[in-house]
Amino acid sequence: MIVLRVNGEDRQVDVPPEMPLLWVLRDVVGLTGTKFGCGIAQCGACTVHLDGKPVRSCQLPVSAIGDRAITTIEGVGTTPEGAKVQQAWLALDVVQCGYCQSGQIMSAAALLARTPKPSDADIDAAMSGNICRCGTYVRIREAIHQAATGEAHGLQVIVDGSPS
Ligand code: FES
Ligand code: FES
Repeated sequence: MIVLRVNGEDRQVDVPPEMPLLWVLRDVVGLTGTKFGCGIAQCGACTVHLDGKPVRSCQLPVSAIGDRAITTIEGVGTTPEGAKVQQAWLALDVVQCGYCQSGQIMSAAALLARTPKPSDADIDAAMSGNICRCGTYVRIREAIHQAATGEAHGLQVIVDGSPS
């Protein structure tokens, strides 16, 4: 039996030690907000935080977690950065199909926790491992600026047909 600290709660899981954390989270713990994309640590869809740092859960054996705190998309809104990122995502309507977005939000929240006012280059560097097939990169970058500053940052948002 392995004990994991997930979103502030201890969860006992009876799984093989080599099972990737993503499988444990989705199939055993029942937290399906974290997505499976490539399975080979290339797309970022499966990103969660370990002690606040973004990691690719699809390639991380559950035995390697130890006592580090796991935060998933279901819990990130309880952190100040996660809450701001989620609000900005909604304000700028970032999501298209949505499949990559849990991982994007996790990477963005981790970025703001370590770099509260990131430049475009900071954002591009931090988000480069998160792939979006729908191509929402421009809105993602603007939403991160908005989460950081509380202000819209150059992307014109159309509400009810009128620029706002
Ligand atoms: S599913 Fe983990 S990086 Fe793609
Ligand atoms: S919103 Fe569709 S893959 Fe990113």
